[in-house]
Amino acid sequence: MHQTFQKLSSIHGPLMYLRLGSVDCVVAPNPELAKELLKHHELTFSTRHHTAAIEHLTYNSSFAFAPYGPYWKFIKKLTTFELLGNRTLGQTLPVRTKELHHFIGILLGKSKSGETVNLTQELLKLTNNVISQMMLSIRCSGTVDQADGFRTLVREENEIFGYDSLLEKIMRDREELRKNKKPNDDDVKDFLDIMLDIFEDEHSEVQLTRNHIKALILDFLTAATDKTALIAVEWALAELINNPEVLRKAQQELDQVVGKSRQGSEGVIDVKGLHYQLLPFGTGRRGCPGISLAMQELAVTLAALVQCFDWNAGGGVDMSERPGLTAPRAYKLNCVPLARFTPTLFAT
Ligand code: HEM
Repeated sequence: MHQTFQKLSSIHGPLMYLRLGSVDCVVAPNPELAKELLKHHELTFSTRHHTAAIEHLTYNSSFAFAPYGPYWKFIKKLTTFELLGNRTLGQTLPVRTKELHHFIGILLGKSKSGETVNLTQELLKLTNNVISQMMLSIRCSGTVDQADGFRTLVREENEIFGYDSLLEKIMRDREELRKNKKPNDDDVKDFLDIMLDIFEDEHSEVQLTRNHIKALILDFLTAATDKTALIAVEWALAELINNPEVLRKAQQELDQVVGKSRQGSEGVIDVKGLHYQLLPFGTGRRGCPGISLAMQELAVTLAALVQCFDWNAGGGVDMSERPGLTAPRAYKLNCVPLARFTPTLFAT
């Protein structure tokens, strides 16, 4: 769609008005116009388009689709300061590190046996495991029943009747657990605990309902596992595989930096929504609240893939896109990892 918009704008001029079905749509395909609309007329665009289907699928309580108003503001605050705030990100770092090590361990195994790895699938498992643990303390690519059910939940989120009963069960199990031991402020709380605390708080600014909690769980699962972070890693690695010189340079830099001080380098490009040439996370009030988590995940995952392995993709990676909201790759990224060394953690 973005490419079609770009082609249309080269014919019809920069600012276009389209009707997509019954929806009015304005296309602003250059940074100046994007800034004019998204910055100077931000409030006009701070409510997303809403349909009966979205209402039904999201218990009419979604955050991502909530109109710009008190409920959205309350959840935005909760998200910024608690769910995805610095404290929570710090507390949940061990979970993410463990999952990354597990992921690298799988790739080292493939490297030993010389097998091709479906990186798209492995990255999807990694992202799902991270967010499902941060939200519900469930590892979704495990083998237990709940984990399998959970995977179905993420995959088939459009089948509302399937996921409602699973979410209900997850919530009831947790409520049962909390009857015996309510988490206190020093415990590492997952999203569900944070939301149940508010649900049980009679003095909360907004009284959350069970449906709100279910909708918020789905919102975050969708937003975080809608392949966004994994797609970004896939595209970046594919580019590097197709440009071995650049891959080599990145490996050298990582060898030097990580070898010396174990610190990642600061990103040179601003992606936080202040430069309208590049808005991967949107901008302004409705911009992505997962940006810090996503950027951390993206950087460490890509750095590990680049530093620990060389990649054999059988003579180049096809860079075609397929249609989709998150600009997904047309083909899965299949390649053979060749370990450059065995990280200390995995040395026997
Ligand atoms: C590389 C990874 C990611 C990318 C590229 C991305 C991108 C985006 C974009 C473009 C938007 C819409 C912004 C706008 O309308 O201006 C958005 C919204 C959102 N994202 Fe992300 N996102 C990523 C990861 C995440 C993660 C990890 C989470 C949560 C854990 C998350 C949660 C959300 C939520 C809840 C919204 C809706 C916010 C609202 O409506 O106010 N995202 N994201």
